[in-house]
Amino acid sequence: MISKINSRFFVFTCLLLSCTSTSIITPDKPLRDGHVIVSAQENFALGFFSPGNSSSRYVGIWYNKVSVQTVVWVANRDNPIKTNSGVLSVDDRGGLVLYDDNRKPPVFVWSTHVSNKSFVVSSNYSAELLDSGNLVVRQDDKDKDFLWQSFDYPTDTLLSNMKIGVDRRSGLNRVLTSWKSEDDPGTGSYSLMINDNGSIAQMILYRNREPLWRGGPWNGLGWTGVPDMTADFIFNISYVDNPDEVYLIDYIRNASIISRMTVNESMGTLQRLTWQQGDRKWFNFFSAPRDQCDIFSHCGAFGDCNVYDAGVYECRCPPGFEPKSPRDWNLRDGSQGCVRKREGRVCGNGEGFIKLGKMKLPDTTKARLEKKLGLKGCEDLCLKNCSCMGYSAADIRGGSNGCITWYDKLVDLREFSGGGQDFYLRVDAVELANYLKKPKRFPGFLKILLFVLLSASVLVLLSLAYWLIMKKQRAILTIPSPDGEEVNELGTSTIDVKFYPLSTILAATENFSLAHKVGEGGFGTVYKGTLDNGQEIAVKRLSNTSGQGIEEFRNEVTLIARLQHRNLVTLFGFCVQKEEKMLIYEYLSNKGLDGFLFDNEKRYMLDWKRRFDITLGIARGMVYLHHDSRLKIIHRDLKASNVLLDAHLNPKISDFGMARIFGSDQNEETTRRVVGTYGYMSPEYAMEGLFSIKSDVFSFGILLLEIILGRKNSTYYAENAVNLVGHVWDMWGKSRAMELVDQSLGNDPEILRCIQIGLLCVQESATARPSMSEVVFMLCSDIHLPPPGQAAFIFRTENFGPANTGSESVGALSVNELTISMVQGR
Ligand SMILES: *[C@@H]1O[C@H](CO)[C@@H](O)[C@H](O)[C@H]1NC(C)=O
Ligand SMILES: *[C@@H]1O[C@H](CO)[C@@H](O)[C@H](O)[C@H]1NC(C)=O
Ligand SMILES: *[C@@H]1O[C@H](CO)[C@@H](O)[C@H](O)[C@H]1NC(C)=O
Ligand SMILES: *[C@@H]1O[C@H](CO)[C@@H](O)[C@H](O)[C@H]1NC(C)=O
Ligand SMILES: *[C@@H]1O[C@H](CO)[C@@H](O)[C@H](O)[C@H]1NC(C)=O
Ligand SMILES: *[C@@H]1O[C@H](CO)[C@@H](O)[C@H](O)[C@H]1NC(C)=O
Ligand SMILES: *[C@@H]1O[C@H](CO)[C@@H](O)[C@H](O)[C@H]1NC(C)=O
Ligand SMILES: *[C@@H]1O[C@H](CO)[C@@H](O)[C@H](O)[C@H]1NC(C)=O
Repeated sequence: MISKINSRFFVFTCLLLSCTSTSIITPDKPLRDGHVIVSAQENFALGFFSPGNSSSRYVGIWYNKVSVQTVVWVANRDNPIKTNSGVLSVDDRGGLVLYDDNRKPPVFVWSTHVSNKSFVVSSNYSAELLDSGNLVVRQDDKDKDFLWQSFDYPTDTLLSNMKIGVDRRSGLNRVLTSWKSEDDPGTGSYSLMINDNGSIAQMILYRNREPLWRGGPWNGLGWTGVPDMTADFIFNISYVDNPDEVYLIDYIRNASIISRMTVNESMGTLQRLTWQQGDRKWFNFFSAPRDQCDIFSHCGAFGDCNVYDAGVYECRCPPGFEPKSPRDWNLRDGSQGCVRKREGRVCGNGEGFIKLGKMKLPDTTKARLEKKLGLKGCEDLCLKNCSCMGYSAADIRGGSNGCITWYDKLVDLREFSGGGQDFYLRVDAVELANYLKKPKRFPGFLKILLFVLLSASVLVLLSLAYWLIMKKQRAILTIPSPDGEEVNELGTSTIDVKFYPLSTILAATENFSLAHKVGEGGFGTVYKGTLDNGQEIAVKRLSNTSGQGIEEFRNEVTLIARLQHRNLVTLFGFCVQKEEKMLIYEYLSNKGLDGFLFDNEKRYMLDWKRRFDITLGIARGMVYLHHDSRLKIIHRDLKASNVLLDAHLNPKISDFGMARIFGSDQNEETTRRVVGTYGYMSPEYAMEGLFSIKSDVFSFGILLLEIILGRKNSTYYAENAVNLVGHVWDMWGKSRAMELVDQSLGNDPEILRCIQIGLLCVQESATARPSMSEVVFMLCSDIHLPPPGQAAFIFRTENFGPANTGSESVGALSVNELTISMVQGR
C-alpha cells in the first residue's frame, strides 16, 4: 500500500518536474529507497518494499493496478538491506547494482552479470521496466536487444509472455522458487522447473529437491498430468522443444486480464491465480497437486492411483500385478507399490500389451522417445526388449509425432476421469488371455438398444425390490430394539464426525413418519428431524443399493465431513446400524432453490441480483468440489432441488458426497450406475456413462438457464421447441434470447451474458465446455466470451439417430421428475 502511494506521488512529482520518463533507471538517475518507477502503461511498479511484518528492504516488481500489493519478482531475495538507504543503479558495464548508500565505500548487496560482448565501458546503459513486468537492461534505450532481463531470473511468479524452461545453449534454467514465508522472500523449498535431464523434458514441482508433483511430458496439447489445462479462450499455452531451447509460455490472450502462476510455500502448491477487480482478491484458478493421486509416486512402483473411483483406497495394482506388501497396502501405505503376480513370465513367454485408458503417463526419467516410430513401431520395439514395461504415443493429437517406451519400473501412474491418454502395459500370457476374453463393446445402436431395454427392465425390478425392502425395513425399524443395543458398530474413536445412535434419529423423525419426509431421490429419502435440544436436522436415509461395506462407509463419511465450504451443506454426522446408513446434515429452512424458482409467488423474492449471487455461490461451491478440496469430487446430480438456500438465501450445494458413496461399481472407463436426473445429464453421461467434471459443468449450465428463465428444463413445453435448452439455443441464434428471460428480472445486460455462459456450459462437446473455475472467472469479470458452440439438446423426438433413441427413453422413464438411478447394461 505504502509503495502504491509512493508511486502515485512519484508520478505526480515527476509531472511537476517534467521529467521525460518514469520507467527508466540510468547511472545518472538511480532508484533510491522511497521512490518507485512505473512502466509506461502503469501496469507494473519497481521499488523498495518490506514484505509482511518484516522491516528488511528488498527491491521488487509488483502489480501497479492491483490493490493488494502483490510482488512478482525480487532482486535481492536472499540479501535484504537493513536500512532505508538502498540504491539501485546501472553501472558502466551494463550491470544492475544494488547497494547501501549509508556504507562508505558502498557495499554491493546484489548485482547482475552481463555476458562478455557488452563489456564496453560506457555511461549509456539503462534499465527499463516494461509493461509486461520485465525489467530489462539495454546499451541504449532504443536497443531491441536486452543485455539482461528479469524474466530470465524468475522469483516465484510466472507472468504472461515469460518463459519457464531451459536454454540448452547457455544452460540457463528458468525456475520458479517459492518465498520462505510471507515475511521473507528468500529462496524457499518449493520449485517448479522443466527437468531436461531425461530424453524427454518433464515439468516437475520439487519440494527440497524431491519431486512432489509431476506435470509430466508435453503431449501436444498440455502436460500429461493436467488434462484439463490446455489452451482455451483465456490462455494460450505454447511449448517449444528444439535443440536450442525447451520452454513453456503461458500467454494470456486479453491483456486486460491480470493472471499469474506462482509457487506458494505455505500451500505447497503451484497456483494459477487471476485478479478479480470487483472482489478485490485473487481467485485460485488452478492448483497442483490437488489430490492425493497427484503426489509423486503416491502408490509406489507399478501402483496406479485413482481418486474418482470411490471405495476404500485410491491405490490399486494394474492387471497382472498385486501389492508388494499387502499388509502396508491394507494400512493404506502404497509406497512399496506393486509386483507381478507371476514373476519372470514376461520375456519370450507369449506376453503382450493391454491398454489402460485415461492415464497420466508414468515418469519418463528412464523412458526413451522414438521420434520416428508410430505406436506399432514402439509395440514391436518394446516386445523385443524384456526390460521394456510399456509404451504410449508421444502426442495425443495423433499423427506421426513419435512414441515413448518405458524401462524398469513404472512410477507415478494415475487415472483421470476425463482426458488422459492410452498407455500400453506389458503383461504375461495369462493376463493377456483374460484381457482378450473380455467381450468387446457392442456396436453403437445395438449398445444403446440394449441399454434402453435393460435399464427399463432393471428400473422396474429395482423399484419393486426397493419398495419391498423399504416396506420390510419400516416394519423392523419401528420395533424398539429390545435390549437397547444402541452401539456404534464402527467404534467412535477414530472418527471426527459425530455418531448419532439410531434411537436418537428415530425419536427426532418420529420413526421416519411420512409427516417428516421432505424429499426423495435416487440416493435415498430425506427426513426433517428435531433433536432433544431443539436443533433441526436433515436425515438422509440412503437407499440400500450402494453395496458398500460399513468400513468403506465410515471412510467415506470421514472424508466428506472434511469438505468445508460456505456453499456446501454442513455434514453433522452419521448413523449406521445393520443395513441402515444415514447421513445427518444441517437443516436449511428455505429448502431447495426449485421451491423458489418454479413457484409463481416465491419467484419474485429472487430478483436478478439475488439470482446472480446464487449462481456465483453455486459455481464457487463446485470449484471447491472439483479443484480446491484435496478430494476431487464429481457431483453427478447437480440440480435446483439439490441447491438449498439458508435463511439469507445463500446457496448451499447438498448431496455432494453421494457420488463417492455410490461410485464403487465403477470401472476404469465408465460407470455402470448412471445416477443423475433427467434434464440435467450431459449426453455423454446419459448415454455412455462417461462422467467427468465436464458433465457437472453441463448440469450447472442447465441450472443457470433455469435460474434465468425461471422454467424447468425437464417439463418445458413451447411450440416447436425440443426442450428449454433447445429453445434457448434457437432464440440465441436469432438474437432473441432476452425474450425468454423470467419477466420479473428486467433486462439487465448481465443477464444476456449469463445466458451465454449457460450455453457455453451445455455445449455438446465436453472439451469445449469451460471448467468451473473458468465459469467463476467469466461471471466475475467482463472478459469477452467466445460464441457458444452447438448446444446438446438430445431429447429431440423427430430424429431417429441412435443417440436420440437412447435419450428419449431416458426421458420417458423419468417423467415423474424423480432422480433416476439405473444400471447400464454393458
Ligand atoms: C504480523 O504481526 C501481527 C501481530 O503480531 C500478526 O497478527 C500477523 O499474523 C503477522 N502477519 C504476518 C504476515 O506474519
Ligand atoms: C568471455 O571473455 C573471455 C575472455 O575474453 C573468454 O575467454 C570467454 O570465453 C568469454 N565468455 C563468453 C561466454 O563469451
Ligand atoms: C552514448 O550516447 C551518445 C548519444 O547517443 C553518443 O554520442 C555516445 O557515443 C555514446 N557513448 C558510448 C560509449 O556509446
Ligand atoms: C500463499 O497462499 C496463501 C493462501 O492463498 C496466501 O495467503 C499467501 O499470501 C501466499 N504466500 C505468498 C508468499 O504469496
Ligand atoms: C540433472 O543432472 C545433473 C547431473 O547429473 C544434476 O546435477 C542436476 O541436478 C539434474 N537436474 C535435475 C533438475 O534433476
Ligand atoms: C498462441 O500461441 C501460438 C503458438 O505460440 C502463437 O502462434 C499464437 O500467435 C498465439 N495466439 C495468441 C492469441 O497469442
Ligand atoms: C533394452 O533397453 C535398455 C534400456 O534402454 C537397454 O539398456 C538395453 O540394452 C536394451 N536391450 C536390448 C536387448 O536391446
Ligand atoms: C479484452 O477485455 C476487455 C475488457 O473485458 C474488452 O473490452 C476487450 O474487448 C477485450 N479484448 C479482446 C481482444 O477480446
